[in-house]
Amino acid sequence: MNILVTGGAGYIGSHNVIALLEAGYNVIIFDNLELGHLETVETLKEIKAKGSVIDFIEGNLLLIQDVEAVFAKYQIDAIMHFAAYSQVAESVKEPQKYYYNNVLGTLNLLNTAMEYDVNKIVFSSTAATYGEPEYIPIDENHPQNPINTYGKTKLMIESIMDDYDKAYGLKSVRLRYFNVAGADSKNRVGEWHNPETHLIPNILKSTFGNGRVFQMFGTDYDTKDGTCVRDYINVEDLAQAHLLALKYLLNGGETNYFNLGTQEGSSVKEVFDICEKVTYQKFPVKIQPRRPGDPAILIADNKKAKEVLGWTPVHTLEQSIQTAYNWEVELAKRLANQV
Ligand code: UFG
Repeated sequence: MNILVTGGAGYIGSHNVIALLEAGYNVIIFDNLELGHLETVETLKEIKAKGSVIDFIEGNLLLIQDVEAVFAKYQIDAIMHFAAYSQVAESVKEPQKYYYNNVLGTLNLLNTAMEYDVNKIVFSSTAATYGEPEYIPIDENHPQNPINTYGKTKLMIESIMDDYDKAYGLKSVRLRYFNVAGADSKNRVGEWHNPETHLIPNILKSTFGNGRVFQMFGTDYDTKDGTCVRDYINVEDLAQAHLLALKYLLNGGETNYFNLGTQEGSSVKEVFDICEKVTYQKFPVKIQPRRPGDPAILIADNKKAKEVLGWTPVHTLEQSIQTAYNWEVELAKRLANQV
């Protein structure tokens, strides 16, 4: 079974490639390496699991000839679509970049897929499609009113997928991630963004005596300790949900959408404390004003994914932080060797 993975050289995509290979699927990674890394592809190529095959195509979803070339070369059974820009603040500053890349790139992918009769896709959506929460935990029936361009692009794509199902029979599963955390438990791949904007890697990166000070955005929220509360979902648990979503589609499942979270909230201060505990370090911290656009609390209701897909997240936040830390140490070594 051949699965096309767009964005397979990136953070979430690469963990999914590992899960697919380990489950015996063949993987074709399609990535333009703008945000993904060739080193990640090389690491993934070394993983030989259950006789599964991996191939890499460097290409751009915005170039229709690149997309056509993949479908012409491989008999694709289903798609996992991760390739996208995903920085919330940047999306508000540069909406053109986000609409163009995320929406048009996906349209090229879908149109070519349908030309080649590929009608199953697992799509990387986001809790950002819900916008400011009206109630907590957020279930899948919560209104979708995104407050930033990133969330809007993902919602547009969800809506395009619905119309394409009605008109052309495209079956999609949209997975709305909450805050993805952690790294591969064998430390082969992990989060590697430049610049890094996410909480956990930003705390952990200040362990290396490089003068970095962790900036804590907002301590006056109406929450248990004044800092924002988020639902941190382990990246390997997330990959298992994608496998289940893929099986659901391959078994003839209808278009559907699921939240992926733990249904537990942790504050920024709690995350910070666990980082100190796991690493046996003290981090410098500077309290800053609130970051614009941050809702106070985001927690997933994950019942639907449990009931319909049979998914259960198993990693604790502490385990995610431990693997994230192992990866930061590894990444620092790799970057030092590059110089
Ligand atoms: N934070 C800090 N300091 C930092 C980074 C983050 O205090 O250096 C705080 C933020 O203000 C926020 C919390 O930590 O309160 C989490 O922030 P992240 O940037 O790690 O994650 P977000 O909740 O902003 O966003 C993430 C993804 C989005 C996705 C969203 C959905 O990055 O793509 O989860 O819940 F849309």
